[in-house]
Amino acid sequence: MTEAPRPASEPSPPSAGGPAPQYTGEPASQSASEPTPQSPGEWAPPPAAEPAPAAEPAHLSEGGPALLDVRDLRVHFPITRGTVFRRTVGHVHAVDGVSLQLAAAETVGLVGESGSGKTTLGRTIVGLIPPTSGTILFRGRAPDARAGAGYRAERSQLQMVFQDPTASLDPKWRAGASIAEPLRVNQIGTRAERRERVRDLLELVGLSPKHARRYPHELSGGQRQRVGLARALALNPAVIVADEAVSALDVSIRAQIINLLQQLQDELKLSYLFIAHDLAVVRHLSDRVAVMYLGQIVEQGRAADLYSDPRHPYTVSLLSAVPVPDPAAEAQRERIILPGDPPNPASPPPGCRFHTRCWLREQLGGPERCAVAEPAPRLVSAGHTAACHFTDEVPGRAAGSVAGQTAGPAS
Ligand SMILES: Nc1ncnc2c1ncn2[C@@H]1O[C@H](COP(=O)(O)OP(=O)(O)OP(=O)(O)O)[C@@H](O)[C@H]1O
Ligand code: SF4
Ligand SMILES: [Mg+2]
Repeated sequence: MTEAPRPASEPSPPSAGGPAPQYTGEPASQSASEPTPQSPGEWAPPPAAEPAPAAEPAHLSEGGPALLDVRDLRVHFPITRGTVFRRTVGHVHAVDGVSLQLAAAETVGLVGESGSGKTTLGRTIVGLIPPTSGTILFRGRAPDARAGAGYRAERSQLQMVFQDPTASLDPKWRAGASIAEPLRVNQIGTRAERRERVRDLLELVGLSPKHARRYPHELSGGQRQRVGLARALALNPAVIVADEAVSALDVSIRAQIINLLQQLQDELKLSYLFIAHDLAVVRHLSDRVAVMYLGQIVEQGRAADLYSDPRHPYTVSLLSAVPVPDPAAEAQRERIILPGDPPNPASPPPGCRFHTRCWLREQLGGPERCAVAEPAPRLVSAGHTAACHFTDEVPGRAAGSVAGQTAGPAS
């Protein structure tokens, strides 16, 4: 593997409160159909369920106590056989012992290969999938599992935005009705108040009141994503899980939505769990980044640290695939292509889950320890952990790479 020079200086990650730098991935000029978002409208939040308790768990970021604290979360999907007599013959370990924290107004990027469990983790956090075990604490307490107003008010604080906004927008409903639905379901406001709120939300996401009357097929991809965002914002959430929310968009529209996400974060102090395959976009948006492999987080830390000094071989391989702007540095880098597909999450390998594909283990002569002992996350620097027995042996960090790069690749 070729050693890449480390960047001389690492710009600060987007701060969780200050004005966000504009995303410059591609020409980001605002078109007539994708106007700039306006300031938020006045809106009284739905009543909070109950005041948060005093005890707040510590978390990895410097930003204070965790708003969201996920502890040892597991989601195992049963594999069943038979039609008449259904029996469970195994379980897909989609999420397998994940601990993750999110502070107020913080963005945590979540990356990993297809099938690593990112969507399952996100959907479980917002309550769409019941966890098999583990806890999800929001403001220091588990959302009330009993149905009722308290449960709905707590759950409304955690919202999700999807890659395909049409999945959350009914094709038979006008955009305004889709945006108003969470308000209607939660019996918030009169019809007139809801209409007013929809107008404010459209303005907030950079659309005009006339868009309320359009059906999803009458909107562009970017406009649909803005409507999806408006709907997610209707109940004044504190946390948004954005699952590949910009991946399907054209480059220029993607840049606009990324900038919109940052503006909304600044204005509304939102926290994002930002799931994406595009590591350059993740680097641009995230304060911290978590890397998932086969249902587990193998490395997490401040984006600047993780991108400039990755300490898990899997992270190194992911970063090696990201193009860098400097042609000389790009020419020197070596892409690490992992052999084979990820193992079956129904029967993850013993020991380190990555050992069947790990280039570092191969370089070290195949230590037995990797195949028999599961590595616990180790602190490699402040707030930066990696789950590998040999974090100190990770050479030169192929990446050096996208650190400091705020432009996304053109794909
Ligand atoms: N409802 C389900 N029933 C059974 N298995 C599931 C279910 N949902 C997801 N899985 C499995 O769980 C694993 C994790 O899937 P998930 O969709 O969370 O991955 P992902 O990281 O989001 O992938 P991608 O990047 O492709 O979106 C996969 O093996 C998937 O097949
Ligand atoms: S513990 Fe071994 S197999 Fe796992 S990532 Fe580290 S070197 Fe590779
Ligand atoms: Mg997914």
